[in-house]
Parts: sequence; C-alpha cells; structure tokens
Amino acid sequence: MPTYKNGRAVIDTDGNIMHCHGAGLLEYGGFYYLFGEDRRDRRRVSCYRSKDLVNWEFRNICLTLDSETKRHYVRTDLRLAPKNSGPMTPEEAAAISLQPIGHRGANIERPKVLYCEATGKFVMWMHFENGRDYNAARCAVAVCDTVDGDYVYMGSFNPVGNMSRDCTLFKDDDGTAYFISSARDNADMIVYRLSEDYLTVAEQVKTLWPGQFREAPVVFKEKGKYYMLTSQCTGWAPNQGGWAVAGAMDGRWSSIKPFGNETTFNTQPTAAVKVGGTWVYIGDRWDPSDYLNSTMVYLPIDLENGCAVDWADEVTIEDGRISVSAGDIEDFRIMLPGCSEYLSGDGFNVFTRRLGYADKNLLWLMEEKDGSVLLRHKESGKYLSGDGILTELKDDDRLLWELGDGAEGKLLINRHSGKSMAVFGRRVILADSDDKHFGGFTFVKNY
Ligand code: DGJ
Repeated sequence: MPTYKNGRAVIDTDGNIMHCHGAGLLEYGGFYYLFGEDRRDRRRVSCYRSKDLVNWEFRNICLTLDSETKRHYVRTDLRLAPKNSGPMTPEEAAAISLQPIGHRGANIERPKVLYCEATGKFVMWMHFENGRDYNAARCAVAVCDTVDGDYVYMGSFNPVGNMSRDCTLFKDDDGTAYFISSARDNADMIVYRLSEDYLTVAEQVKTLWPGQFREAPVVFKEKGKYYMLTSQCTGWAPNQGGWAVAGAMDGRWSSIKPFGNETTFNTQPTAAVKVGGTWVYIGDRWDPSDYLNSTMVYLPIDLENGCAVDWADEVTIEDGRISVSAGDIEDFRIMLPGCSEYLSGDGFNVFTRRLGYADKNLLWLMEEKDGSVLLRHKESGKYLSGDGILTELKDDDRLLWELGDGAEGKLLINRHSGKSMAVFGRRVILADSDDKHFGGFTFVKNY
C-alpha cells in the first residue's frame, strides 16, 4: 500500500533522497508534479512526479544558475549568478541562516507552477533573493513548453513595485490566475491577478491582514470558498499556522484562525492537494542546521471543523482515498507557561530555550518508577534531578517526580523535597508549589 511516513526522508524511485523543498504541486496529464527547492551546486528548482503522492520519480532540474534567460516586456533583472561563481562560503551561507550547500548566486525559494491554457505554456513563479541576504524581496518568472522541461528564466522584479517574499500561485476554475506574496517586509499579504498569459501582474486586487506578518501562503478552493493557509514569520523556526476563508479571491477575507498545534506539528505550509474528497495539507519540516535533510509532511484537513488538522505518523493513499495512522509518539517537549520556551538538556545542565527545528536537546521521555515518574533527557539518556541537573544515577528519590495540577499546566513535584520544579532566569530551580509566579508546564508531543 502506498504509505507516506511523515517527516522522514523520501527516497525517490531511483533510490536517491528527494530534494524538493518549499514545493508547489501541479496536477497534469494524470500525474502530480512537484516543483521545489534543490540548492545543491548550481541547481535551483527540481521536479518530481507521482501517481500516488508516495512514489516520486525524479524528472528534471527545471531551473539552474545557468538556465537560458529571455527578456520579458516588464522591466526584469535577468541575473541569476556570476559565471562559474563557485561554492558559497560558510560566511555567505550563514548570512541566510544556512550551511554552505550550493554555488554562489540567486536564492530561489518556493517555486510554484501553473499551466496556462491560453498560451499552452507552463509558467513558474518563485521568490528571488541575491543569495547574500533577503533584501531584494522580488518575485521571478520562468516559462516552459513542457511541464518538466528546462524552464527559460524571464527575470526577477518587484510586483507593482512591492516587496515580495514567500509566495504561492492559485488558478481559479475559469482560468484566472493569482499570485499571492508577503510584502512590506512581510507585514502584509498581497493578492495579485495575473495577466492572461500568467507572465506578469495585471492588477493588485487585495492587501490582506496589514501589519500581521504572515508568510508561507497556500490557497485552495472548496465548494465555492477560497481558503488560505499561512504561517507567522519566525525565520526557519516553526510556529502556529493560521487559516482564513473568503467568498472570492478579491472579496472579503476572514480573520486568521489557528490550525494544527503551536508549531503546526513542526511544519510550515507549502502546498495543498485534494485526494478523493479530502484536502491534504503539505508542510515543510525545515532543518536549517542540515537543510538538505528537511522533510515534508502530509496531513488531511477537516474542513467541516474549521480547517482542523491533527497529527498522523503515516498517511496511506490508495484508489484516490486517504487514511491515516495516528502513531505512538513517546517523546515530548516541556514548555514553560506563558512563553514559547522549552526545557533543554545541555551536558549536565538544564536550561530553557526557544524552539528550533530538529532541536534534539529539547526532547524528553517519561518512565514510571515506584508510582512516580522519571524524566529522561532523550539525547543524553540522563535523568532530571531535583537539583536542576541531568544525572546518570537512577536510584535517588530526587529523580522522582509527581504530577500535580497547576493553573497553566502540570506541576512537577519532587518526591525528595516536596517542592515544585520552576524556572528562574534560564535555570531550573525548586520552588514551593503554592508560589504564585508558577503555573506548571505543558507537555507537548514531538510530532
Ligand atoms: C521562512 C520562509 O517561509 C522560508 O521559505 C525561508 O525564506 C525562511 N523564512 C528563511 O529564513
């Protein structure tokens, strides 16, 4: 049965790891085509295809730093890279918060492709940066006669003069296409109607949620309603996703309501696809410390219940139907009340840290012992002790905790002292349970 394991590396039908991040999905000729980021050497946009969204066949690198360029009738910048620009340095990579992966040149993110019936061409829109920072904030366009051929780069530009970063495309039933992107340093989300040939912007039709700083837009339509998924802006780190709905692309959009959990299950929206009657959310699970090992997650969306999305370990797609297996996740993060900080083990010390993708030091396991619990730091295998350190010793009642109910979460009461675990600055201390400043911890499963 074609089963997709969420958040694990995808091996393509040639046996290679799939590199297709920030992807867009196009249904064409009985296949799902996925276009996404491949940052290795001079590659920029890869294309894979699949009949079942599980078995992916590599098709082409559709855009590279050396792609053919063609001037377009709008004023565009055709530069992709200096000739033979060579590998980027660690300093250059660090400036865009990554490790050195490819050659110096354009940083192409979130490519999306539509088929234009009016011209018979495939048109790719994407986010363009110069590869040194995120200041250009432009979109770029490329075009091809075949779906997975070598695209001709038509240059980057600021749509209607606006900044443009995270983006998506949406094609309505009547063929009208829209480009949606974050503008004004990500403060606003702008909707543009495209020209009939999809090669440029015809009109700016909507400025959504001004000042609310949204990115990673994904748009889909169901029963005459338009849905938009977005994330907040926290760089490569995950955050709570949001959804909104409208009766028309240029109509009145609702306010943004949350979907998924506080990290959108460690993902950021990149695409959506309908399988049978069910829309499926596709998110990137970024790993900025090892970008090439970033993975993809599929989760069905329950539109009847306000875009509800739950975690599933595995998604099975067969005969156009989707089913999920929730999975049995044991490890969790321990979140502090009222802020997005988590307990982290570093050597013998326990600190609080903000959430980052793939941060293994934030993961804990719970073991039962003598009617109490032991908290085991997953990465080091050591136990949390009542004196706020990690230790390998196990037979000490300072390692035993009881769970009580706090105002904002679970109190961790130390069996040895009877005091509760609390955080002072960035360190763990023990405090009296009735300390008014302490409401307990939230245990968040590591989806
Ligand atoms: C968040 C965006 O969604 C990603 O595509 C990428 O641009 C990162 N920011 C870079 O920090």
